[in-house]
Amino acid sequence: MATGRKLLAKLYAGLPRPAQLRIARAYAGRKERRLARIETPTTVILYVTQRCNARCAHCFYWKELGAKAPELSLDELRTLARSFRHPISLSITGGEPTLRTDLFEVAQAFHELNGCREIKIATNGMLPDRIVDTCRRVLSELGVESLGVQVSIDGPEETHNEVRGVPAFEPAMESARRLKELAEADARFSVHIACCIQKKNIDVLPEFVESLIPLRIPLQFGLIRGESFGTWNLPAGSSSGIDPRDPESPLVPVDRLESFFEWLQARSEESEYPFWSPMQQAKIDLSLRMLRRPTKCMACHAGVIDGVVYANGDVALCELTEPVGNLHDYDLDIARLWSSPAAEEMRAKIRSCFCIHGCNLVTGLMFRPEFIRDAVIQKAKS
Ligand SMILES: C[S@@+](CC[C@H](N)C(=O)[O-])C[C@H]1O[C@@H](n2cnc3c(N)ncnc32)[C@H](O)[C@@H]1O
Ligand code: SF4
Ligand code: SF4
Repeated sequence: MATGRKLLAKLYAGLPRPAQLRIARAYAGRKERRLARIETPTTVILYVTQRCNARCAHCFYWKELGAKAPELSLDELRTLARSFRHPISLSITGGEPTLRTDLFEVAQAFHELNGCREIKIATNGMLPDRIVDTCRRVLSELGVESLGVQVSIDGPEETHNEVRGVPAFEPAMESARRLKELAEADARFSVHIACCIQKKNIDVLPEFVESLIPLRIPLQFGLIRGESFGTWNLPAGSSSGIDPRDPESPLVPVDRLESFFEWLQARSEESEYPFWSPMQQAKIDLSLRMLRRPTKCMACHAGVIDGVVYANGDVALCELTEPVGNLHDYDLDIARLWSSPAAEEMRAKIRSCFCIHGCNLVTGLMFRPEFIRDAVIQKAKS
């Protein structure tokens, strides 16, 4: 059954192109005007744990994994959920979120106490029953408008297991297949496979993509990043220092990336099931442009729309910048922390930096009329 949003998207997709662009421009203008009234972030990356059952070579969070600092408890997350001034779009991550046995209750807390209606979960898919059961419960017990899961798979079996440092491929594929069945049964739910491109997997990606096409699951590609590559103009003292264990070797040369993405786009377009969306293409186009010629080409809304809450209660404007405070020092009140002098100071510092962080790029793209148009049309088709 189509949701209200999907019906609207379908109506929009049927309009002539000039009308579509007029509506998209009006929507972007309204978003711009609303920026000044945003008091707390509306797109939040929430790290629910610093535990993980994998050991990925490329993970930017590797220093935190296994840290003894206590994670925000369910009660603390409930207090946090209440403290936002606006309903949020929640992206749950970690560590591995499914290691938290109260993952459903975390989603429930944000839905019921914050009014959040859009939830995304990033998982390595190593615990298929946990992720599938959590999603079933969210869909049947909460009135969310959309729930999306990204299952990380970085290549064919041997490559993926090497990158992840554990035999993760089989359970991740099982998760992806079972979640796809769920997506076919409920229009509010979607799943995609996320692949982090790095030197270890670039050569085997075409073969990997071919093996996934029959599954009819959308694919997303991210470029490996850190604070020392794929990030520019961060003022001294503001960087979070996140880099993979080996910061130099994993980034694939830009020529090689360009030829892979040219192939990918052609392959997706000729496929009966276009698995790589225009939104994803726009994100990669921007990243390649920055890697080819490092210049800021779009506003970043980290610190206004986008925000990050770490498992220990630290809050950052983005993952690349160092935390501006810890929620425990603000009675778990994000509104107070978000308007603190430390947050204001960091906001002022990050005016000229730019980076290839996919989440922040997508937020920025949602202010571009052409992109908005493509995104809605894609929603209508999905
Ligand atoms: C940090 S993980 C957390 C969720 C879960 N453990 C997982 O692996 O999906 C979220 C996503 O970030 C990606 N990632 C990790 N380190 C990265 C890096 N240095 N650059 C780009 N993406 C990275 C992972 O591959 C994964 O798709
Ligand atoms: S990328 Fe995800 S699965 Fe891999 S080590 Fe980091 S948190 Fe764990
Ligand atoms: S461009 Fe945005 S996401 Fe990237 S480092 Fe700067 S503030 Fe952070």
